[in-house]
Amino acid sequence: MQLAIPACFLLNLLWFQSLLPSQADPLELLVVTVATDKTNGFKRLEGSLKLFNLKFLVLGMHEKWKGGYLRLFPGGGQKINILKRELEKYKNNKNLVLFFTDSYDVVFTAGKEEILTKFKEFNARIVFSAESTIWPDGLLENRYPEVTFGKRFLCSGGIIGYADTFWSTITKWNVEDTDSDQLYYTKIYLNATLRTQLNATLDHTSTLVQNINFAKYELEMVEEDTLTRIKNLKYSTLPSVIHGNGPSKIYLNHLTNYVPDGWHSEYGCRQCSRNLIDLPNEPKDKLPSVQLAIFIEQPTPFLEEFLQRLEQMSYPKSRITLFVHNNEGDAERYISQFMLRHRSKYAAVKIVSPHENIDEKAARNMAVNHCIEIACDYQFSVDSYVQITEPDILKFLITKNKQVIAPIVVQNGKLWSNFWGAINIDGYYARSDDYLAIVNNERSGIWNVPFVNAVYLTKGSTLKYMENKIQSLYNYEDFDADMAYCNHMRDEEIFIFATNEIDFGRLVFTENVMTDTIHPDWWQIEDNTEDWEERYIHPDFWKATLDGVDIAQPCPDVYMFPLFTHRAADTLVEIMEDYGEWSGGKNKDTRLAGGYENVPTVDIHMNQIAFEKEWLFLLRHYPTKIVEKVYPGFYTEADSSMMFVVRYKPTEQSFLRPHHDSSTWTMNIALNSHGTDYEGGGCRFLRYDCSVTNIPKGYALIHPGRLTHYHEGLLTTNGTRYIAVSFVDPEFALNS
Ligand SMILES: *[C@@H]1O[C@H](CO)[C@@H](O)[C@H](O)[C@H]1NC(C)=O
Ligand SMILES: *[C@@H]1O[C@H](CO)[C@@H](O)[C@H](O)[C@H]1NC(C)=O
Ligand SMILES: *[C@@H]1O[C@H](CO)[C@@H](O)[C@H](O)[C@H]1NC(C)=O
Repeated sequence: MQLAIPACFLLNLLWFQSLLPSQADPLELLVVTVATDKTNGFKRLEGSLKLFNLKFLVLGMHEKWKGGYLRLFPGGGQKINILKRELEKYKNNKNLVLFFTDSYDVVFTAGKEEILTKFKEFNARIVFSAESTIWPDGLLENRYPEVTFGKRFLCSGGIIGYADTFWSTITKWNVEDTDSDQLYYTKIYLNATLRTQLNATLDHTSTLVQNINFAKYELEMVEEDTLTRIKNLKYSTLPSVIHGNGPSKIYLNHLTNYVPDGWHSEYGCRQCSRNLIDLPNEPKDKLPSVQLAIFIEQPTPFLEEFLQRLEQMSYPKSRITLFVHNNEGDAERYISQFMLRHRSKYAAVKIVSPHENIDEKAARNMAVNHCIEIACDYQFSVDSYVQITEPDILKFLITKNKQVIAPIVVQNGKLWSNFWGAINIDGYYARSDDYLAIVNNERSGIWNVPFVNAVYLTKGSTLKYMENKIQSLYNYEDFDADMAYCNHMRDEEIFIFATNEIDFGRLVFTENVMTDTIHPDWWQIEDNTEDWEERYIHPDFWKATLDGVDIAQPCPDVYMFPLFTHRAADTLVEIMEDYGEWSGGKNKDTRLAGGYENVPTVDIHMNQIAFEKEWLFLLRHYPTKIVEKVYPGFYTEADSSMMFVVRYKPTEQSFLRPHHDSSTWTMNIALNSHGTDYEGGGCRFLRYDCSVTNIPKGYALIHPGRLTHYHEGLLTTNGTRYIAVSFVDPEFALNS
């Protein structure tokens, strides 16, 4: 279903005019509903009634509900009994029309005039809403009158009638609280004598009430002036009430992100500024207390940055208690470093380490209990694969005043995010029609969704409420922890919100984490490019790629630019030394296709450390930007089969005799520092008698490989010198 904007505004105007009341209309409308709790759904109904200035009566508030769990079992007789008790006083009011609707799963999209006009057009004393399936007693099907156009079966979620007729209907028979209210009304309707006597009919074409279960494909959202409505395309009706009957509550939640006055193509997110909490800036101890619950449940790249970013959140740490569940031995050093430096700033810290053997669900339940024990105002639950880049995230989310709200985070360049817009019948992911628009940030707002994970804020009062009701929030049948949490929230009528009003950060991809290496994140260049660049690409590199920024040219057609951070250079050297299998610098080289190296060095190839594909990615994404800038008109394929780290030292190999490279262009990255790590060294281009002897650590030198730039490696006189060399486009001459 797409959000359609009406093409013809004039038509709409005319349509509304036809609904204008005649002058002398004395009829009054009173909406009646039964609700025992002020759930989110109830507040949503109440909001829509107020929006349209509808008079309404709420019955049964704070009564104990005995009418059954309606989603699974028939029930609801209690509703009729409550109506019987409260509506008698209206039974003789000739000018009153009562409109009974359910409360938690209903929203109004129109006001009194439209509703009464439509009601009168039925030419009936009482009208029940209709649906396409029969419930709860399928055996009654053939007693239903045939219908050629429209829905055949009665749904008790919407009933409109004159007060006297309404009264006769609900008092016809006795009904137990646990009986089905729908069956009660059905039996009245199917009794031809009573039907005629009561002058009753069904709203077959959803003129007044749209029951949305099984009707999804009949419906379309349309914007009417400042409001959004549901249009039934099958019957060409514009229902005044939307009812999420049966299992269609999640779909209703989706619709009410727009209907009646939610997100709008012209006005954007109106709910974003509603019902906010005003947080004081000072004094800090007046701010709500937050438990920051951190979960490291799997090997995760860029944990250091993850922790740093949590540390950089602007919320006062004196108002934050840390709860950390770490299930990864490898993460322990980061946690302990973090704690060493920052622990004292926080109100309190609790760490559950891998040695305690607590599984994910137990740990999350434990965090909830801990939060309740310390009387937290909020729990902010963050998984290790969420990089939070917005320092004000906590204040922002708290201000939104939701029981559960998740900041939307997405994997870079992918559609993978931490929310679902819909779920399928098994409770798993399904795509809502607005999912892409939200993930791609074309539509920004606050969204009522069925599922969030990875990072979300829950009110402490909600955790306490849930704890009383169900004890283990993270256990639900055999669902994963995150699904368990969301299922419980949905069962308890607690709305789950997700917001993409601002950019909060991103999800890190965790599927391919290297093991058995001292620097696993080095291999994340393709999966988590942005995080990799932040850590390993020199910040000045990007400037060098810009037009008009000159690149240093220490020798003719030899260019030098910043590429790696010091950390990247150190990381690569440490990985190579850790691997340790340096070649002997001999001509015989079994690693090469021909088995022979003309100008051998002491080196380790990228494929030996399983970094060949990654290094090619690096060549394609970074140095090529400079190559195409300094050698205009040349388009590199950035292909290479010779990529390696060379080690020069006086006691091993200390220089390299003059040679050509088997490349079109060559890149040579300095991995350590002249003067501190080694002395001597450098590269001399014989044709120009020009030497580059002081390449700063992390800088790359590029030069043409064959033909002009015959060169030699100068003597390293002391210490050890490391360079990363790539012969790029060896086949260029043949191909072009
Ligand atoms: C219809 O309802 C009336 C009044 O309760 C009852 O007397 C009659 O038997 C019913 N008819 C059928 C067919 O059930
Ligand atoms: C209701 O009564 C009116 C007036 O007798 C009649 O015209 C109309 O058809 C009846 N409607 C239904 C649904 O029985
Ligand atoms: C080599 O470097 C070491 C350490 O910096 C220094 O102590 C030594 O004097 C140097 N040797 C020569 C020959 O320069």
